[in-house]
Amino acid sequence: MCRQMRTILRWGLPLLAVLAALAWGAGTLVQHTTRQWFQRDVSLRARLAVDGAREALAAHVRSGDRRRLGVALGAIARDDRILAAAICGDGMRTLVRTGTVPSGFNCEELASRLPAAMDEGGVELVEHAEGGLVHALVMPISDEAGPVGRALVIHDLSFATRREEALRRLTIGAFAVVALLASVLTVVVRRESWRTWTEELRRLLPLPGGGGTVSARPRKLFRPLLSDLRNLVAELATEQSAASAGKWSAERLHHTLTDVLRGERVVILANREPYVHERTSEGGVRVVHPASGLVTALEPVMRACGGVWVAHGSGSADRDVVDRGDRVRVPPGEESYSIRRVWLTEEEERGYYYGFSNEGLWPLSHMAHTRPVFRAQDFRQYERVNRRFAEAVCDEVEGPDPIVLVQDYHYALVPRMIRERLPRATILTFWHIPWANAERFGICPWANELLEGMLGSSIVGFHTQLHCNNFVEAVDRYLEARIDRERQSVVLQGREALVRAYPISIEWPNHWAMEAPPVPDCRRRVFAELGLAPDALLGVGVDRLDYTKGIEERLLAVERLLERFPHLKGRFTFAQLAAPSRTLIPEYRGLNERVEALAKRVNERFAAGTWRPIALLRAHHEPPAIFRYLRAADVCYVSSLHDGMNLVAKEFVAARDDERGTLVLSRFTGAARELTEALLVNPYDLEEASSALAAALAMPAAEQAERMRAMRAFVQDLNVYRWAGRMLVDAARLRQRDRLSSRLGPGLRAVGETEGELKRLPPGA
Ligand code: F6P
Repeated sequence: MCRQMRTILRWGLPLLAVLAALAWGAGTLVQHTTRQWFQRDVSLRARLAVDGAREALAAHVRSGDRRRLGVALGAIARDDRILAAAICGDGMRTLVRTGTVPSGFNCEELASRLPAAMDEGGVELVEHAEGGLVHALVMPISDEAGPVGRALVIHDLSFATRREEALRRLTIGAFAVVALLASVLTVVVRRESWRTWTEELRRLLPLPGGGGTVSARPRKLFRPLLSDLRNLVAELATEQSAASAGKWSAERLHHTLTDVLRGERVVILANREPYVHERTSEGGVRVVHPASGLVTALEPVMRACGGVWVAHGSGSADRDVVDRGDRVRVPPGEESYSIRRVWLTEEEERGYYYGFSNEGLWPLSHMAHTRPVFRAQDFRQYERVNRRFAEAVCDEVEGPDPIVLVQDYHYALVPRMIRERLPRATILTFWHIPWANAERFGICPWANELLEGMLGSSIVGFHTQLHCNNFVEAVDRYLEARIDRERQSVVLQGREALVRAYPISIEWPNHWAMEAPPVPDCRRRVFAELGLAPDALLGVGVDRLDYTKGIEERLLAVERLLERFPHLKGRFTFAQLAAPSRTLIPEYRGLNERVEALAKRVNERFAAGTWRPIALLRAHHEPPAIFRYLRAADVCYVSSLHDGMNLVAKEFVAARDDERGTLVLSRFTGAARELTEALLVNPYDLEEASSALAAALAMPAAEQAERMRAMRAFVQDLNVYRWAGRMLVDAARLRQRDRLSSRLGPGLRAVGETEGELKRLPPGA
């Protein structure tokens, strides 16, 4: 049934029934009232007629003169409406009569229906006779000597019935017309007011397709409702888009950017560029995807959002492919965003990247027992390069209040530098590595400068709440700042920066996993590359060659596994894909040598025929090769000694759409807080790690599937689009707050007041 029909049945029928009942009631009331009026009128006339002739009638009855009695009666009955009249004598006998007395109304017939004694007023009867309704009045006639008889006057009341009926019809008709007019008028007024409401709301609210502008001035009537309505609409829109889009996806992130942030251009600053152009030995140019968790996470975000990625141009052919503004469109073939390359001199790179960033901040932040080295000249370069990148960012932004995403420990000073040039910018700083506890952080000679630099941000993000707490403790200990623990923020020199946890993730669906060959093909190819027997068991590790990754502990765990579970000898091989990294730093070169020597020793110890337990593949591997290995593996071991998140663990989960393979994961990674279905280990504890590896290799397929399903569901939900989406929605809230505050004027930033407003912004995740 169509909607209109249902509306008519729901509202129209009951309305009609009520109107009909009212009309009927009014008609009946009118009929009753007019009947009374006619009756009274007729009764009065009859009485007047009898009263006027009463004496003459009494005298003629007494004298027995019927002729004169008849004449006197005829005078009474002259009125047209009188049907008949009669004089009843003793025993209600008819003495005389005029006209035609309707049957049942002559004196004899009435005798039994009248009381024996009758007062002066007489008795009235109103009844239906053959010709219609009649009114009969019987009045006593008497003289001084006493009663002599009774006078009967019968009026025709059928005219009254006809008039009543006509009046009743007229009343019902009039009522129906009035009701109809009232209904039509109500509908018209209702439609008109609804149209006015909706037009006004469209004008005031940024409804999808409504063309509204938030700046439109509301009519007085609407002002109190306006903010509630706006928030309701925004919430509904978000819920609707969440429901229709389901999980966070590239599209939803894109819509968040266009809807919530009104299409702001995103500028990301990260040292490592997502596409590196390298010169080949044949003189051509090839595009390399660097081994970087940061790139893994942020590249899909940029593909979804567009914008500019400002980075160090580190590839040997990078300069050859940029335009005059040092920009190149990427990804090759898709070109959805730009990389703006910043060139560094060797000296700058040595001081800023190798020196302060990776010999100072990196070991400072990771509990991996490598001593940080702080050199004043490195910090000077760090500061200088930070300024150059801050300027590059300011060149790339559009307008005075851009959104800038500053990434990682290479740029701790940049937020403040950008803030100095663009006070209204929204700066989201994300620190991709752990943040040391306050005591440890304090060994950095420039601890205060780093904290002050970071607090130029609008939001400072970490993977975990623990790292947020460490940061806030450091601020508390080293700066004169106000900590607002309830709002999770720090206020330095009147500026507030929120400190929040945003655990990073990977894209889902993962395009590298989707483009990979089927698992049996990956397995065949990898086994052939490694020279493994078809029934061999394969373990895989994928890392940059970095001392935080626990690669030495991993190889020692493999050695311990073979010692404790000899049946795996000749059958189990662990392939370690290790991308050389930061090789100018002595510590990394030392690690390189130690890992190589360790793999060699373990291999020599257990070698049998062509079988070796460890395949150390020390080279950069492109994502298709990495995903091939992850899909071929029986077990993936992530053994970081300390890691902000570790996205390889999540990539392994994304790679296994066959729901096979087991993840053994260091409990010292951020990922261990999320992927709780992995076998969690302390990588330093070789007994525990080797037991976990043995358990993983022996795990029944059904249990592998159950664990893998749960982890896949988790990563699917908490993917990198959600990570970026949550930060952007938080940024939108801040921007709204700042807009509201600026209306109040300087010094009047009403945090309490605006909180209410902020809470009503759509939830980001
Ligand atoms: O994990 C920390 C980090 O800096 C990431 O941001 C990046 O993915 C990785 O290390 C790579 O480091 P680099 O850029 O020095 O090769």
